[in-house]
Amino acid sequence: MDHRLRCLCQLADLSGAAGFLSNTRRHLHQHPELSFEEADTAALVGRHLEDWGWQVERGIGGHGLVGTLAVGAGHRRIALRADMDALPIHEATGKPYASRKAGVMHACGHDGHTTMLLGAAEHLAKTRRFSGTVHLVFQPAEEAGQGSGAQRMIADGLFERFPCDAIYGLHNSPGLPTAAFGFGSGPFMSASDTARITLHGRGGHAARPQQTVDPILIAGSLVMALQSVVSRNIDPLHTAVVTVGALHAGSAPNVIPDTATMALSIRSFDPKVRDRLEERIRALATAQAQGYGGEATVDYERGYPVLVNSEAETAFAREVAAELVGPEGVLANFPPVTGSEDFAYYLQHRPGCFFRLGNGLDSAMLHNPRYDFNDEILTVGAAYWTRLVERYLVD
Ligand code: NI
Repeated sequence: MDHRLRCLCQLADLSGAAGFLSNTRRHLHQHPELSFEEADTAALVGRHLEDWGWQVERGIGGHGLVGTLAVGAGHRRIALRADMDALPIHEATGKPYASRKAGVMHACGHDGHTTMLLGAAEHLAKTRRFSGTVHLVFQPAEEAGQGSGAQRMIADGLFERFPCDAIYGLHNSPGLPTAAFGFGSGPFMSASDTARITLHGRGGHAARPQQTVDPILIAGSLVMALQSVVSRNIDPLHTAVVTVGALHAGSAPNVIPDTATMALSIRSFDPKVRDRLEERIRALATAQAQGYGGEATVDYERGYPVLVNSEAETAFAREVAAELVGPEGVLANFPPVTGSEDFAYYLQHRPGCFFRLGNGLDSAMLHNPRYDFNDEILTVGAAYWTRLVERYLVD
C-alpha cells in the first residue's frame, strides 16, 4: 500500500504522552548510573516494556536489554538503540530534578535518549500500525571506551539472538535548533584512539640537573613536537586531532622525578590517517626521549572505530524526518564531527544510520556540568521512532 494513504504517526499523536515522558526523563536524571552500573535504569525500562506487552530479554552484555514486538506477517526487522549510562561529573544545573548522586550526572542526555525510545515503545504497542518485528536495544556503558556496551552486547549475540535488517540510533545535539534533525551518510563520527606515554629519565636533586635525565624537559618538548603531527604529517584535506589531555610529573620543586606520563586522545576518519597518526606519535615519543638521554614506552590503544552511515538507510531516515517535521526541520547533509560513538560497532555488522536531534541553540555542551536534556524534544523523538518503524515495517 502507498504509505501516504496509511495512517502514520504525527507529532501531535504523542502530545498526550508529554507529561509521562518528561516525568520519566526527570526521574532518570535524578537517579543517574555510571557505565556498567545501570541496574535501576534497566529495571525501570524492562518493567515499562513488559507492562506495554513487549517481550523483554535482560542482562545482555551487562545491564543491556532488548524489547521485541512482532506484529502481522511482515518479515522485515528493524532495531532501534538508546544508551542508558551517565557520566562522572558533578551536576551544576541547579534544576529541581538535578542528580541526587554526588559526582554522577546525565551530562550527555542518555536519560532523554532512553525516554524517547520508551515513548515510542508505548505508542507502537498501542497503535500496532506495522507488519514485522521491532527490537528496541537499550544499551549500557556507551561512555566506557574500550569494552563498551555496544561491543559487549554484540559479543553476547545481539545480532544472532535479535536479527535485524537495519539499526538506527540518535544523539541529541546542543547548538542545533530544538527538534531539528541532522543526517549524513558515509563517515559521520571519528575513530577515537588513546596513547599513554611514559617518559623514563633518571631522577635526582633539582640543584644538580647535570647528574639527571629530566623527564619533565622531555615531556615539554614532546608536547610541542606532537603538534607537528597534524600540521606536517597529515594531508591538509584530511581531518585529524591529537590532544594531550593529561601530563603528570613530579611533586616537589627540589626533586627531578624519574618519570613523566602523558595521555593523548587521537581522532581520525580515514584508516590510512589513523595508521599514520600512530606511526608518527610512536616515532616522536621514542626519538624525543632518546634525544635527551631518556626512553619512552608507548601504550597505544585503538578505540571506537569510525562511524559510517550506510547510504540507503540514511536516505530513508532523512525522508521520514522530513515527513514528520517538514523539510525545513532537516539538515540533509550534517557535517561529520570529531566526536566518537560506540554505535559505530553496530554499523560494522548491519547497515543503518546514526543521526542528530537538536537540543537547542543555547543548550550547554555535552559533558558540561550545566548541560541538560531538552524535554521539548521528547515527543519529537518518540514520534520519529514510531513513524520510522511504521514506514520500515510494511508488508
Ligand atoms: Ni552521549
